[in-house]
Amino acid sequence: MMSAGSTGAEALLSLERLPDGALVETEAVLDGDAESLVIYRQGDAVRAWVNVCPHAGRRLDWAPGQFLLSKDRLLVCAAHGASFELEQGECVGGPCRGDSLRKVEVVVRDGAVWLA
Ligand code: FES
Repeated sequence: MMSAGSTGAEALLSLERLPDGALVETEAVLDGDAESLVIYRQGDAVRAWVNVCPHAGRRLDWAPGQFLLSKDRLLVCAAHGASFELEQGECVGGPCRGDSLRKVEVVVRDGAVWLA
């Protein structure tokens, strides 16, 4: 274990709450701080990032858990429209192009998503 966080044994959410292609918000304690996370599932792959835009530090969702997904499957920040691809979380358009979301390592086990 390389994280000092104390919640490694808690599931973030069950896979039943995470349909394929969906963006879902959940919360976790990371290094002692409660953080909102955005979790994305693509088939068997699940990726997670801190729900904070690198542009101006705002949440990405326009209402809790409501994320904008463009037609070409980019996550669009509700504040000023930065667009993030959902492999690396890199901003590919908008005011913080080239910056990235803060990735959170997760694993899928026993039908749920866990902090890695
Ligand atoms: S805070 Fe996300 S685009 Fe400005």
